[in-house]
Amino acid sequence: MKALVLAGGKGTRLRPLTHTSAKQLVPIANKPILYYGLEAIRDAGIRSVGIIVGDTAREVREAVGDGSRFGLEVTYIPQEEPLGLAHCVLIAREFLGDEPFVMYLGDNFLVDGIADLVDAFRGADHDAQILLTKVAEPRFYGVAELGPDGEIVALEEKPVHPRSDLAIVGVYTFSPAIHEAVRAIRPSARGELEITDAIRWLVDHGFRVHSHLVSGYWKDTGRLQDMLECNEIVLQTIEHDVRGTVDGFSEISGRVVIAPGALVENSVIRGPVVLGANTKISGSCIGPYTSIGEGCVLEGAEVEYSIILGESSITGVRGLTNSLIGRNVEVTRSMDSPHVNQLMVGDHSKIQVRA
Ligand code: TTP
Repeated sequence: MKALVLAGGKGTRLRPLTHTSAKQLVPIANKPILYYGLEAIRDAGIRSVGIIVGDTAREVREAVGDGSRFGLEVTYIPQEEPLGLAHCVLIAREFLGDEPFVMYLGDNFLVDGIADLVDAFRGADHDAQILLTKVAEPRFYGVAELGPDGEIVALEEKPVHPRSDLAIVGVYTFSPAIHEAVRAIRPSARGELEITDAIRWLVDHGFRVHSHLVSGYWKDTGRLQDMLECNEIVLQTIEHDVRGTVDGFSEISGRVVIAPGALVENSVIRGPVVLGANTKISGSCIGPYTSIGEGCVLEGAEVEYSIILGESSITGVRGLTNSLIGRNVEVTRSMDSPHVNQLMVGDHSKIQVRA
């Protein structure tokens, strides 16, 4: 069995971060989201992984390398344009050969891993296995409608009027029959080769497509709020581990990870929180549910329920919440006048300031 991991795409919903960086590399509890998927694949007993890469290929290659440190053998498969999930299967034909495989969307997160799902597929005689989960807003997802015996009646990609609340989770298992399906379908109205269309083709042509309801936590981290929620879930599971320096004027409560070289002085850290290597926190109040990358400087800052990537600084700013802050960002308090906000922000940014 092989794995096909999708780490290309446009990432429009996470701009401006995705102008300069792959969305699959946004950190959750200071570890790129993609790493969780690769580890889950390894833990399911798979070694050979093809990774689809697009515009951010260089960055993904740098982060994952040949895969050996995950116990994997990685082959990169460049996709010139993000032409759809089924297009990824089409261009991976040579890599996949005639083996069954698991297809894993690189920005998806399953808290229980995928070992059980892969085992179930190995032991069964299916051509495709899809995972479904109930969601509040199905119109953002691929949606399945099931018949009375659990059979798949309809599959639609991001429907305007969803026929059920069952979203298709971004982990699929396929037999080689899928290759015929992805060759047979045509691009959808939005110009993509949709995997939902390929699966529907399998159903319509009498192939065995099995659906399975997942109860464990799953998140497609394509949007800011999903990313923050995923960060919250992972932070709930961290082990307390303080390797950096905490001075006697600071107060630490709850589970906190402080990486080597990090310094906390005169601050309150309310776990769960992770602080990256060489990050300096002084006169600040951090957490709960906050991940701060490596080499950041926070002075007189108040931050909760947020993700801050490496090398950023926040000075004299209180009440930061629900925020995703990129690399090398500076957030400071305006000294000229207490009543103005001064911004220099990239395209497609989203800022909310106090009125
Ligand atoms: P999506 O989140 O559906 O698409 P996207 O990355 O273009 O994001 P947005 O909707 O915000 O513009 O993609 C799911 C995963 O599959 C994600 O990790 C990117 C990857 N992908 C590819 O590798 N190639 C593709 O052609 C597409 C559409 C997605």
